[in-house]
Amino acid sequence: MSVHPDQPHLYVAPVLRPLSPRRAEYLTDHAILVERGKISAVASAASFAGSPGLRRIVLEGQMIMPGLTDAHLHLAQLDAVALDGHELLDWLEHHIFPAESALSHEELARDTARRFFAELTEGGTTAAAIYTSLHENACHIAFEEAERSGLRAAMGKPLMDTGGPYSESTGEAISSMTRLFRRWHGAGEGRLQFAVTPRFALSCSDGLMAAAGRLARDNGLLVQTHMSENLDEIRAVRERFPQHSSYGAVYDHFGLMGPRTLLAHCIHLTEDEKRLLAEREATVAHCPRSNLFLRSGMMHVRSALQNGIRVGLGTDIAAGPTTFMPDEMRAAIDVSKARYALDKSANGSAAEPLTPEETLYMATAGGADALGLHGVRGRLLPGEEADFIAVDIQSLHPQGGPPGFRLPERPLLSRFIYRATPAMITGVWVRGRRLKGENPPTATH
Ligand code: GUN
Ligand code: ZN
Repeated sequence: MSVHPDQPHLYVAPVLRPLSPRRAEYLTDHAILVERGKISAVASAASFAGSPGLRRIVLEGQMIMPGLTDAHLHLAQLDAVALDGHELLDWLEHHIFPAESALSHEELARDTARRFFAELTEGGTTAAAIYTSLHENACHIAFEEAERSGLRAAMGKPLMDTGGPYSESTGEAISSMTRLFRRWHGAGEGRLQFAVTPRFALSCSDGLMAAAGRLARDNGLLVQTHMSENLDEIRAVRERFPQHSSYGAVYDHFGLMGPRTLLAHCIHLTEDEKRLLAEREATVAHCPRSNLFLRSGMMHVRSALQNGIRVGLGTDIAAGPTTFMPDEMRAAIDVSKARYALDKSANGSAAEPLTPEETLYMATAGGADALGLHGVRGRLLPGEEADFIAVDIQSLHPQGGPPGFRLPERPLLSRFIYRATPAMITGVWVRGRRLKGENPPTATH
């Protein structure tokens, strides 16, 4: 039977969704109704029994969750993962700038972009904030492949004009950024955004940061950059900008700090910077695996949250080893527990570690908000667009668990965080379009 794409689809499965940073809910025997790419209802499966004209898809043994949001990663570093042995600035010089340079070859740029978006889809990431490489063409190609993938992306070409082999002129950086913005912002029927992407303060001249700030402000664009990741980096920023009181103050000076700013890392914030980030309503993309890999530090996420700073999660490949968000959620909890243990043994008391609910919120609702998608996706609420994933519940348990085994809500969430693998993500939908797995044949009721 052929199915009209606008026909309402009813997905029947338990639903796990965030309610707030502290609370998630697990709705057994539920279903979500998707019409024209939007969620029109989330209610008990029985309540739809008499509804005519629905295509009913029973996701047996699975649960539905919001699509995951990766708030920080580098497409151009896909093949440079797990190159160990350096701290940030040496790692960039030795491994990352050369790896990104290779994307001047368009065939490699296309192949990399295809594999990159396939990886995100496999792992249930349906929206991401992405850096490409320095090359305008590679960024066009990345947008083409993002459009083809069906995912949501906020993406930009990293701005670098401070000299050396991995740099371009200020004029070229500004004009290519502007062309990319004009061509791609809002493409894919609004799924794609152009993100203004000053790589970090050390890679940009003052003029380039000012131009980036203007383009972002004039067009309401997302700004993404790195901040306060590594102590040597912070020292170099202080030396280059002695007139500014902090790293954060540099970005603020150039108009790069606002509610649409995504700051990766922010491990070593001063109290003034915490206040600034909270005041400007910027979001930190916390990247715990990357922060360990590059020996950058263990961010004190609880302190950021207590200061009213918004926090999302980023896999940050290539400093993070995979694009799989549940692994980042787990690392965020693990790092906060390591901090807890260290602080407690040193001081006798410590801030509470992150909870599974908090990392779920960061990876779904919080990440969506950080990408400017509040009300569009991330909470599985009626009226949002239908971005969701299905997870094989049984496989979360060792060898499927004993016959008939069922876990209640909270352990199920933490089992997802601690044990999920990409293979357990059985379905991925964006705007109601299935991007991973296939709908089983079903009858229309
Ligand atoms: N700071 C500037 N560029 C980068 C990058 O590519 N990765 C990380 N982790 N930090 C950066
Ligand atoms: Zn990064």
